Amino acid sequence: MLSYRHAFHAGGYADVLKHWLLVEVLSYLNSKDSPWTYIDTHAGGSLTDFESALARKVSEYRDGIGKLWASRNAAPSSIAAYLALVEAFNSRGKLRWYPSSGILAQRLARAQDRLHLFELHPADYASLIKCFHSRRVGHCYREDGLNGFLRLLPPPSRRGCILIDPSYEVKQEYARVAKALKAAFKRFPQGVYLIWYPLLADARAKKMAEGIMQLATDNYLKTELRIRACSGMGLFGCGMVVLNPPWVLPERCQQTLPWLAKQLAQDNSAGYEVTYKIR
Ligand SMILES: C[S@@+](CC[C@H](N)C(=O)[O-])C[C@H]1O[C@@H](n2cnc3c(N)ncnc32)[C@H](O)[C@@H]1O
Repeated sequence: MLSYRHAFHAGGYADVLKHWLLVEVLSYLNSKDSPWTYIDTHAGGSLTDFESALARKVSEYRDGIGKLWASRNAAPSSIAAYLALVEAFNSRGKLRWYPSSGILAQRLARAQDRLHLFELHPADYASLIKCFHSRRVGHCYREDGLNGFLRLLPPPSRRGCILIDPSYEVKQEYARVAKALKAAFKRFPQGVYLIWYPLLADARAKKMAEGIMQLATDNYLKTELRIRACSGMGLFGCGMVVLNPPWVLPERCQQTLPWLAKQLAQDNSAGYEVTYKIR
């Protein structure tokens, strides 16, 4: 069950889409002084070293952040904040280190904000807690995130962002995510929820995404990034559903996704879709 290691996939195109959207949401929450709470149900580790043996086994980042890196100076301004954050972990223009979702959130958190990170893998959990010495800002739990996060809702701040990012290696996870979200939304209907899902020949993930959108029929954004044709084998892209998105997000998607799809394309089928309804 815990054979999945995010270090193999860190910085891949899936991380790019997810982390860019996460940075957009948290930056938007930072536009007001009132505190926010960030919850990451599947946080992964802390920083991935692309020169480590683990990351070099697959080097998925070459098809993700690696492709953006060289042309980052020509990137649209709507993705600049994400690229600048990644750059801050690297020196002299060399791409070696890549932050996880929790570390990105930590960088964007202010003194008044709070982070709650769930991670089951012992090695990834150990690397996370090393980066979160101060419990005042962050708390890491070696615990099932889909069960654990519900007790934290609603957060005292009543402003919050919840990232749900399982690997879906266990097929029951689609149903678990849908069920947990339904319960979460009941407790905290104002939260901004980001849910990542894979694009696969099997329509299970798409069906889950459609179901999740029913929770906020008048306030959601769904985006899908295809990087290659569906061959029937493996991922051909990924998607994100954002419930209660910041009102600026549709425009940011229109500004960013054409460039992202072009940079990350692996064949002529590459492209993107955005559907939304904003209250
Ligand atoms: C896709 S990775 C997360 C990547 C991370 N959110 C990021 O964007 O950098 C999924 C992580 O969830 C962990 N995991 C798997 N099942 C879990 C569970 N039930 N609760 C919490 N973490 C879990 C895995 O060990 C893995 O590190």
